[in-house]
Amino acid sequence: MEDLPKIAGTAPVKHEAEAGKTYAWCTCGLSDKQPFCNGAHRDSGMTNLKVTEEESKDVWLCTCKQTKNPPYCDGSHKAL
Ligand code: FES
Repeated sequence: MEDLPKIAGTAPVKHEAEAGKTYAWCTCGLSDKQPFCNGAHRDSGMTNLKVTEEESKDVWLCTCKQTKNPPYCDGSHKAL
């Protein structure tokens, strides 16, 4: 098994989050539906991160999986 999390991208993806709606952010980097989980973590020992925003807003979701503030981009991708 490769080292996880895998760097799935080098820039964040904008998501138009809806208030009260839950989404599952990929933590392992294996999903091909980035930045969202597609279940690819199944045998990795990792799990997704479920997030429910309290208000509707645009959020920038990390794809490099190096952020210190998951699921949001914190600029860590710039050091890759
Ligand atoms: S995309 Fe991961 S910190 Fe920006």
